[in-house]
Amino acid sequence: EAIEKGGYEHFMLKEINEQPRSIADCMRGRLDAKNGRLVLGGFRDYMNKFQNADRIIITACGTSWHAGLVAEYLFEEFARIPVEVEYASEFRYRNPVVNERDFIIAISQSGETADTLAAIELAKSKGATIFGVCNVVGSSIPRATHAGSYTHAGPEIGVASTKAFTAQISVLTMMALKLGYQRGTLPENRYMQLLSELETIPSKVEKALQLNDKIKEIAAEFKDARNFLYLGRGYNFPVALEGALKLKEISYIHAEGYPAAEMKHGPIALIDEEMPVVFIATKDSSYEKVVSNIQEVKARKGKIIAVVTEGDTTVRHMADHVIEIPETEEAFVPLVAVVPLQQLSYHIAVMRGCNVDQPRNLAKSVTVE
Ligand code: G6P
Repeated sequence: EAIEKGGYEHFMLKEINEQPRSIADCMRGRLDAKNGRLVLGGFRDYMNKFQNADRIIITACGTSWHAGLVAEYLFEEFARIPVEVEYASEFRYRNPVVNERDFIIAISQSGETADTLAAIELAKSKGATIFGVCNVVGSSIPRATHAGSYTHAGPEIGVASTKAFTAQISVLTMMALKLGYQRGTLPENRYMQLLSELETIPSKVEKALQLNDKIKEIAAEFKDARNFLYLGRGYNFPVALEGALKLKEISYIHAEGYPAAEMKHGPIALIDEEMPVVFIATKDSSYEKVVSNIQEVKARKGKIIAVVTEGDTTVRHMADHVIEIPETEEAFVPLVAVVPLQQLSYHIAVMRGCNVDQPRNLAKSVTVE
């Protein structure tokens, strides 16, 4: 086992650190920005159907559902197709309205999640086309779907998903860009620009990983907190949900992720000097609004930890801690911004003496409902 961990103390830490490589592996042979090429094997044969879909329904559970939420922003922005993101466990029992003009994307690391499989069977029986985004080759979901793209993240052992999440988002990003280009909703020059930027993501994730020591210090300060709030908007809203889920899963600290603007409708009541609030406040279209949310938390003496774009000075003056990540396209920020949140939960869990790779009550793959 020590050898499998490659010198790391835990699988989770190894998998967090593998992300520059796993994201690159996921893009290898598919993305060639210089020549404007983007090829996703399984996707190609279904491009026509996908292009003419009335609607995309994404179904998944857990962290994979969060990747689906990021994809909702991606597909709607670039391909202009309406997207719904469904918890598989809800979708399967709701008698949902689905027909043959719907395109379903099922996301699953293990490819074995019982609820996701049942959601696929249901949508299939109603005539929809089902596309899988899975990590484990030859698992049940890829076999149950019409077509799919593997994430190629390699085996993920830690129960809390890390590298599978960023690989899922990588595949979904490539799908959204390709679809947008094919549909003409994403102009060629912009498409080319985005492809080039996407190719730089592994090196930006590598850079983000170097914040580890700083994050360890933050973890030491907040490891005894009883609650955490994670806030973000737009593409960073799912990142907030995922940051909170990671912390809950492995450190057993109660954490909630929320769209930053919804804070005023509830969570703001919880804020006092005991409450750490993690903001994802990168320079994007909602930056100014998030900055005012930070001010609101500060006015109530909440402790602010902010993930910001490199060089940001505004938030530095307000936050207790800033974590600076490399700048990228707004649509690609989740791939980089989630990394320090994974590290934060990891270090807090280790400091609390928790079993990081096998947290209590959780399973890597949930094959029962
Ligand atoms: C379990 C795992 C999570 C995972 C979820 C969905 O709860 O502990 O890490 O996100 O299942 O699993 P899947 O394999 O379908 O992505």
